[in-house]
Amino acid sequence: MEQNPKKPYRILFVCLGNICRSPAAEGIMRQLVADAGQEQAVCLDSAGTYGGHAGELPDARMRAHAARRGYRLTHRSRPVTTDDFWAFDCIVGMDDMNVANLRRLAPDVETERKVVRMTDFSLRLSVDHVPDPYYSGSDGFEQVLDILEDACAGLLQHLLAPGGPLSRI
Ligand code: 4NP
Repeated sequence: MEQNPKKPYRILFVCLGNICRSPAAEGIMRQLVADAGQEQAVCLDSAGTYGGHAGELPDARMRAHAARRGYRLTHRSRPVTTDDFWAFDCIVGMDDMNVANLRRLAPDVETERKVVRMTDFSLRLSVDHVPDPYYSGSDGFEQVLDILEDACAGLLQHLLAPGGPLSRI
Protein backbone atom coordinates (compact mmCIF):
# COMPACT_ATOMS: atom_id res chain seq x y z
CA MET A 1 0.00 0.00 0.00
CA GLU A 2 1.29 3.49 -0.81
CA GLN A 3 2.57 5.43 2.18
CA ASN A 4 1.28 8.89 2.93
CA PRO A 5 4.18 11.06 1.66
CA LYS A 6 4.04 13.12 4.86
CA LYS A 7 4.27 10.03 7.08
CA PRO A 8 7.68 8.33 7.11
CA TYR A 9 7.94 4.56 6.87
CA ARG A 10 9.21 3.40 10.26
CA ILE A 11 11.66 0.50 10.59
CA LEU A 12 12.90 -0.97 13.90
CA PHE A 13 15.96 -3.25 13.86
CA VAL A 14 16.09 -5.73 16.74
CA CYS A 15 18.76 -8.08 18.15
CA LEU A 16 19.39 -9.46 21.64
CA GLY A 17 21.41 -6.76 23.41
CA ASN A 18 20.96 -3.80 21.01
CA ILE A 19 24.70 -3.10 21.26
CA CYS A 20 26.12 -5.02 18.25
CA ARG A 21 23.96 -6.13 15.32
CA SER A 22 20.85 -3.93 15.43
CA PRO A 23 22.62 -0.58 16.01
CA ALA A 24 25.00 -1.52 13.17
CA ALA A 25 21.99 -2.31 10.93
CA GLU A 26 20.47 1.04 11.89
CA GLY A 27 23.73 2.91 11.10
CA ILE A 28 24.23 1.16 7.75
CA MET A 29 20.59 1.69 6.74
CA ARG A 30 20.78 5.36 7.77
CA GLN A 31 23.71 5.83 5.38
CA LEU A 32 22.00 3.98 2.50
CA VAL A 33 18.77 5.93 2.99
CA ALA A 34 20.69 9.24 3.02
CA ASP A 35 22.64 8.25 -0.12
CA ALA A 36 19.30 7.51 -1.82
CA GLY A 37 17.91 10.94 -0.79
CA GLN A 38 15.15 9.26 1.25
CA GLU A 39 15.93 10.68 4.71
CA GLN A 40 12.54 12.35 5.02
CA ALA A 41 10.68 9.23 3.92
CA VAL A 42 12.15 6.71 6.37
CA CYS A 43 12.43 6.71 10.17
CA LEU A 44 14.92 4.26 11.71
CA ASP A 45 15.55 2.98 15.24
CA SER A 46 16.84 -0.15 16.97
CA ALA A 47 16.13 -2.07 20.17
CA GLY A 48 16.95 -5.32 21.99
CA THR A 49 14.83 -8.19 23.31
CA TYR A 50 17.14 -8.18 26.39
CA GLY A 51 17.30 -4.87 28.29
CA GLY A 52 20.50 -5.50 30.26
CA HIS A 53 22.54 -3.02 28.22
CA ALA A 54 19.95 -0.21 28.26
CA GLY A 55 21.52 3.24 27.95
CA GLU A 56 24.84 1.94 26.61
CA LEU A 57 26.48 2.97 23.36
CA PRO A 58 27.12 0.12 20.91
CA ASP A 59 29.88 -2.32 21.90
CA ALA A 60 33.31 -0.65 21.43
CA ARG A 61 34.41 -3.44 19.06
CA MET A 62 31.36 -2.92 16.84
CA ARG A 63 31.89 0.84 16.87
CA ALA A 64 35.52 0.41 15.84
CA HIS A 65 34.77 -2.02 13.00
CA ALA A 66 31.85 0.09 11.76
CA ALA A 67 33.94 3.29 11.90
CA ARG A 68 36.49 1.73 9.53
CA ARG A 69 33.67 1.43 6.99
CA GLY A 70 32.51 5.00 7.60
CA TYR A 71 29.58 4.34 9.98
CA ARG A 72 29.41 6.30 13.23
CA LEU A 73 27.18 4.38 15.67
CA THR A 74 25.71 6.65 18.36
CA HIS A 75 22.50 4.81 19.29
CA ARG A 76 21.82 4.11 22.99
CA SER A 77 20.60 0.61 23.75
CA ARG A 78 16.97 0.19 24.76
CA PRO A 79 14.60 -2.76 25.16
CA VAL A 80 11.72 -3.42 22.73
CA THR A 81 8.35 -2.27 24.11
CA THR A 82 4.76 -3.18 23.27
CA ASP A 83 4.29 0.34 21.90
CA ASP A 84 6.99 -0.39 19.30
CA PHE A 85 4.62 -2.86 17.65
CA TRP A 86 2.11 -0.05 17.05
CA ALA A 87 4.66 2.68 16.27
CA PHE A 88 6.71 0.86 13.62
CA ASP A 89 5.65 -0.40 10.20
CA CYS A 90 8.36 -3.07 9.95
CA ILE A 91 10.29 -4.84 12.76
CA VAL A 92 13.45 -6.58 11.59
CA GLY A 93 14.96 -9.39 13.71
CA MET A 94 18.56 -10.50 13.23
CA ASP A 95 18.20 -14.23 13.96
CA ASP A 96 15.58 -16.92 14.64
CA MET A 97 15.62 -16.30 18.37
CA ASN A 98 15.00 -12.55 17.91
CA VAL A 99 12.18 -13.28 15.44
CA ALA A 100 10.56 -15.87 17.74
CA ASN A 101 10.78 -13.52 20.75
CA LEU A 102 9.35 -10.61 18.73
CA ARG A 103 6.44 -12.73 17.49
CA ARG A 104 5.76 -13.77 21.08
CA LEU A 105 5.85 -10.14 22.28
CA ALA A 106 3.56 -8.87 19.49
CA PRO A 107 0.24 -7.71 21.00
CA ASP A 108 -1.92 -9.05 18.16
CA VAL A 109 -1.88 -10.90 14.84
CA GLU A 110 -1.65 -7.73 12.77
CA THR A 111 1.43 -6.44 14.57
CA GLU A 112 2.96 -9.93 14.56
CA ARG A 113 2.90 -9.72 10.75
CA LYS A 114 5.27 -6.71 10.91
CA VAL A 115 8.09 -8.97 12.13
CA VAL A 116 10.57 -10.04 9.42
CA ARG A 117 14.08 -11.49 9.30
CA MET A 118 17.00 -9.25 8.25
CA THR A 119 18.39 -11.90 5.92
CA ASP A 120 15.06 -12.14 4.04
CA PHE A 121 16.45 -9.08 2.21
CA SER A 122 19.91 -10.50 1.45
CA LEU A 123 20.96 -9.96 -2.17
CA ARG A 124 24.39 -11.53 -2.82
CA LEU A 125 25.04 -13.52 0.34
CA SER A 126 23.38 -16.85 0.99
CA VAL A 127 22.73 -16.61 4.73
CA ASP A 128 19.72 -17.23 6.97
CA HIS A 129 20.66 -15.16 10.02
CA VAL A 130 22.99 -12.45 11.28
CA PRO A 131 25.25 -14.31 13.76
CA ASP A 132 25.73 -12.93 17.28
CA PRO A 133 29.30 -11.53 17.31
CA TYR A 134 29.46 -10.86 21.08
CA TYR A 135 31.74 -13.78 21.92
CA SER A 136 33.57 -13.81 18.59
CA GLY A 137 36.79 -12.21 17.42
CA SER A 138 37.26 -9.47 14.82
CA ASP A 139 36.21 -11.82 12.02
CA GLY A 140 32.75 -12.11 13.57
CA PHE A 141 32.24 -8.34 13.55
CA GLU A 142 33.43 -8.05 9.95
CA GLN A 143 31.11 -10.89 8.93
CA VAL A 144 28.15 -9.16 10.61
CA LEU A 145 28.92 -5.92 8.76
CA ASP A 146 29.24 -7.78 5.42
CA ILE A 147 25.86 -9.46 5.96
CA LEU A 148 24.20 -6.23 7.10
CA GLU A 149 25.52 -4.13 4.20
CA ASP A 150 24.15 -6.69 1.75
CA ALA A 151 20.78 -7.14 3.48
CA CYS A 152 20.25 -3.39 4.08
CA ALA A 153 20.86 -2.78 0.36
CA GLY A 154 18.15 -5.38 -0.30
CA LEU A 155 15.83 -3.76 2.21
CA LEU A 156 16.26 -0.39 0.48
CA GLN A 157 15.52 -2.02 -2.90
CA HIS A 158 12.36 -3.50 -1.40
CA LEU A 159 11.27 -0.10 -0.04
CA LEU A 160 11.80 1.64 -3.40
CA ALA A 161 10.46 -1.14 -5.66
CA PRO A 162 7.26 -0.46 -7.61
CA GLY A 163 4.40 -1.11 -5.20
CA GLY A 164 6.84 -1.06 -2.26
CA PRO A 165 6.34 1.10 0.84
CA LEU A 166 8.14 4.15 -0.62
CA SER A 167 6.98 3.85 -4.23
CA ARG A 168 4.72 6.54 -5.62
CA ILE A 169 3.11 4.04 -8.00
P1 4NP B 1 23.71 -8.10 19.98
O1 4NP B 1 24.94 -8.84 20.71
O2 4NP B 1 22.48 -8.91 20.28
O3 4NP B 1 24.08 -8.14 18.52
O4 4NP B 1 23.66 -6.71 20.55
C1 4NP B 1 24.91 -9.20 22.06
C2 4NP B 1 25.10 -8.25 23.03
C3 4NP B 1 25.09 -8.62 24.36
C4 4NP B 1 24.89 -9.95 24.70
C5 4NP B 1 24.67 -10.89 23.72
C6 4NP B 1 24.69 -10.52 22.41
N1 4NP B 1 24.90 -10.31 26.07
O5 4NP B 1 24.80 -11.52 26.36
O6 4NP B 1 25.03 -9.46 26.95
